[in-house]
Amino acid sequence: MTARSGRHFLQIPGPTNVPDRILRAIDRPTIDHRGPEFAALAKNVIAGMKRLFRTAGHVVIFPSSGTGAWEAALVNTLSPGDRVLAFETGQFAALWRVMAERLGLVVDFIPTDWRHPVEPDEVEARLTADKAHRIKAVMIVHNETSTGVTSDVAAIRRALDRARHPALLLVDAISSLGASDVRHDDWGIDVTIAGAQKGLMLPPGLGFNAISAKALAASKSAKLPRAYWDWQPMLAAGETGSFPFTPATNLLFGLGEAVAMLEEEGLDNVFMRHDRLAEATRRAVASWGLDTVCAVPSAHSSALTAVMLPSGHDADAFRRTVLDRFDMSLGAGLGKVAGKVFRIGHLGWFNELTLMGTLAGVEMGLAVAGVPHRRGGVEAAMSHLADNEGGLAMPARATGS
Ligand SMILES: Cc1ncc(COP(=O)(O)O)c(C=O)c1O
Repeated sequence: MTARSGRHFLQIPGPTNVPDRILRAIDRPTIDHRGPEFAALAKNVIAGMKRLFRTAGHVVIFPSSGTGAWEAALVNTLSPGDRVLAFETGQFAALWRVMAERLGLVVDFIPTDWRHPVEPDEVEARLTADKAHRIKAVMIVHNETSTGVTSDVAAIRRALDRARHPALLLVDAISSLGASDVRHDDWGIDVTIAGAQKGLMLPPGLGFNAISAKALAASKSAKLPRAYWDWQPMLAAGETGSFPFTPATNLLFGLGEAVAMLEEEGLDNVFMRHDRLAEATRRAVASWGLDTVCAVPSAHSSALTAVMLPSGHDADAFRRTVLDRFDMSLGAGLGKVAGKVFRIGHLGWFNELTLMGTLAGVEMGLAVAGVPHRRGGVEAAMSHLADNEGGLAMPARATGS
């Protein structure tokens, strides 16, 4: 391994770069998780997560990856043999479907070409056709991290309402929470699922469920076996600021800091920053003459951009070149786009100059790896950022306030 100077660029779409403030918050002696100091911490982070999920309902925090939080959402609300509706927006939707089937659910899995979001009209049509209300839940991946395609959850909620269907709405917001708007209550979501290592800027190791009153009621009669993932002991303990088992104490120190950082910037500013950097990234991609996986302009993710390499060029070889030459990790193509696509993560603790370094690394990597492209992507992104002030955040900084 060659010695490297300067910081590694971790530009995968999660885990994301962990801010120094969060690293310092985590870097403390672990405390007694049955003591008063911990109770205050737990209550504080649960209250903070409710604000980030924009919910007045319940939030539970598991020591787990996002996959655990997926499982918790399913096992707490559904029973063996229940039918659920899901959409193959990409690799994460496909993996969640596999989990649902392994748990004994019957999945109506609607294929897409991985370049389009979930169609609300399709949701409405499927639910309207289900006169007997056999479908018990609709599973949506809000931001498909494998493709950079975002589905419109508010419009999907309206589709459920138009169909007058009682199915639960389960939403994976693992790579959108903290990067783009997620509104658990306003969007009528029953379980919103999130993880630590994306927009929340933490190391991996926390999984979240935000839970509606309807989902909580469903959990009282749901029959899928559950033990570790059971909401009930978590909710009971959460009232007093404790956990039914040993929590990830130091990650919770970090979570408190993450919530503080996001709220200091202001959630709307955080989302605008992501939108703006994502737009600059897409301008670079277009200037290179490459295509994004996302084929629908209104569905572009603000958290990541997945880019297709020209056929005959290996995206993994390109990523290896970028890593070897410029010490930058880019996201791999996953599942059926493996080797064809690379992904640029632009979420979390990330600003204009981090983006410029990232795009410069990509443009140089394209040249070194011999991938046909036009130069000028970095220039296009710079022009966009220099010409556009960046909404609410910039005037505050410009006046020094
Ligand atoms: C949208 C989405 N869902 C689920 C997962 C799985 O989460 P984890 O890898 O933390 O288990 C990921 C991970 O990247 C994801 O991006």
